[in-house]
Amino acid sequence: MLDLVLAIAHHFFVFALFAVLFAELVVVRRGMDAGAVARVQSMDLWYGALAGLIIIVGFARAIFAAKGWDYYAHNLFFWAKIGTFAVIGLLSVPPTLAFLRWRRAGAAPTDEAVAAARRYLWAEVALFPLLPAFAAAMARGYGAFGG
Ligand code: HEM
Repeated sequence: MLDLVLAIAHHFFVFALFAVLFAELVVVRRGMDAGAVARVQSMDLWYGALAGLIIIVGFARAIFAAKGWDYYAHNLFFWAKIGTFAVIGLLSVPPTLAFLRWRRAGAAPTDEAVAAARRYLWAEVALFPLLPAFAAAMARGYGAFGG
């Protein structure tokens, strides 16, 4: 039962995170005004909260749910997934700082600043499909190593 509840929450938070990421890409564009800056900056708080929830629920699944920590600790695709998620997290830092800067400045960002933030957001989107791919592989026992 715990396994089922955590699995449902995990999938929901993951889809929500991808939705927020894509929504940010829609809002962050040339000519965005101060209202759009405020909107994307509050979306970004949801992005952070969802990423935190995914980490909590994800590790709860890995430690307490059906297969146990030993299964995942010895799986290459598990670590590839964690590593990819960490890289996506790092890529999300520059846009987050930019949104805060723009909001504090209270003015519309320059085209160059918008283009730079979009590059980071697109890089996150590009890496994202690796996560479900690695997850599906690890769930099926591919990439097991050691005892
Ligand atoms: C946005 C990031 C993430 C995405 C897109 C994602 C995606 C997925 C998907 C699609 C599954 C289902 C796999 C299947 O049954 O075929 C899954 C399972 C799982 N994920 Fe994640 N995940 C993410 C982050 C995390 C994190 C940070 C952890 C932390 C440990 C984690 C731990 C797990 C565990 C333990 C399972 C269960 C696998 C099994 O059934 O053996 N996930 N994930």
